[in-house]
Amino acid sequence: MAQLPQPFTPPDGFSEVVVTQAMAADILTLDTWAFPTPQSIEELLGWASPLDWSRARALRSVERETLAAMHASYAFSRFPVPGATLPAAGLTWVGVHPEFRRRGLLKSMIATHLADCRDRGEAISVLTASEPAIYGRFGYGLASQVVSLALPRGAALRPVPASEQVAVTFEVFDPAKHLALVTDLHQRSGALPPGRPGWATRETTQLQEFFADDPESLRDGFESVRILVASTDQTPTGYALFRRKLDWGPTGPNGVISVREVVGLDPATVHALWSRLLDIDLTTKVNIRLVVLDDPLLSLLVDLRATQPKLSDNLWLRVVDVPAALAARRYAAPVDVTLGVTDAVLPANNGAWRIRAAAFSAEVSITKVDSAEINLDVRELGSLYLGGTSAAALATAGLLTGPPDQVQQLTSAFAWPLQPGSSWIF
Ligand SMILES: CC(C)(COP(=O)(O)OP(=O)(O)OC[C@H]1O[C@@H](n2cnc3c(N)ncnc32)[C@H](O)[C@@H]1OP(=O)(O)O)[C@@H](O)C(=O)NCCC(=O)NCCS
Repeated sequence: MAQLPQPFTPPDGFSEVVVTQAMAADILTLDTWAFPTPQSIEELLGWASPLDWSRARALRSVERETLAAMHASYAFSRFPVPGATLPAAGLTWVGVHPEFRRRGLLKSMIATHLADCRDRGEAISVLTASEPAIYGRFGYGLASQVVSLALPRGAALRPVPASEQVAVTFEVFDPAKHLALVTDLHQRSGALPPGRPGWATRETTQLQEFFADDPESLRDGFESVRILVASTDQTPTGYALFRRKLDWGPTGPNGVISVREVVGLDPATVHALWSRLLDIDLTTKVNIRLVVLDDPLLSLLVDLRATQPKLSDNLWLRVVDVPAALAARRYAAPVDVTLGVTDAVLPANNGAWRIRAAAFSAEVSITKVDSAEINLDVRELGSLYLGGTSAAALATAGLLTGPPDQVQQLTSAFAWPLQPGSSWIF
């Protein structure tokens, strides 16, 4: 793993800048150098910003007198982990101006970010990556995976009782009318027992408004966002956010539906929403990304293969404070194991940690001991933490070592009844 420089000390030739909202134009200019976009800065300034400016940091090139790099994070104060929530940092807006790339600016920013997390008491840092090869070297492990699907129109679903009784309305998405409902149902669906680890919620007003923003120049020929609202006995139980694009082929209409998020509090709602999405006139295909690996849709589909599932990385997780993170989650089986953790970046994490807990108990004992039976790098601990990667799989890959009976115990304890995942990219 990469050795990191001292936090809060930028490389030679760069200096730290205190970021404020007044610098939005400069920040967006830097951001568009890192992530090219066709929009002007003037247009981007008119969009909702998801940033908490007090958690944004930037570096400036002294010689060129311009912003060179930035990063920010979202304060996920109730980030879902197995059986609990804990404060986490959602690392985001990581960008280095191409003129200054590969000079260690990202390394420097990660050192600062991890130190900030420790100072704020955030035991884990999570992110969704632009490129999967970037963050492993800093101790981020692949913690959840998702599939994207291209469903043919009319794809058959297995029947679910009471689906017919769910009322579904078709509406143009209007933040004033729907955003609070969407935020609430999204949060509640992730919290339904036993809870979905990694189900990041849009906790702040900025994140909600950013999610709801639907700039015309990003639509790529699609209509504005539509919403299906599902209700049972007049109480909303779910929604689907989607948009359509009409096209014509040699045999007739060939429209596409792009689905952004489908949330249902019960099986009948999920079935009712998907039944509508899969049968919309003038369309032939329904695309959705970010489907968690045990999403009910995957169980309902009669022909999964026809949806051409594509697997992708989703959340990357960095354990910043090993004992605090291990104590914060619950374990799905009785556990008494010792983990020898190596962390080249954060020395306080190094050492042997004994975990003792009963199945699903909130009482978890973490103690530092002299030696460990299972050995792994902190990156692998990040992969295990949400229950999305099994210890046995890591052992098979040679990324974790230990006696087979201990690995088996660790595998059962770190698993969780629901697969982890986030339904949105941050
Ligand atoms: C990705 C990015 C932030 C890297 O910044 P940088 O300042 O060039 O990175 P550093 O010089 O600190 O590199 C640190 C290490 O990561 C490696 N690295 C950096 N970017 C990488 C990439 N995209 N893929 C693989 N490795 C990468 C470097 O080679 C270096 O490796 P080393 O420790 O073995 O020498 C920058 O290239 C960028 O802004 N890219 C476009 C926007 C983007 O993708 N941002 C990330 C959003 S999640």
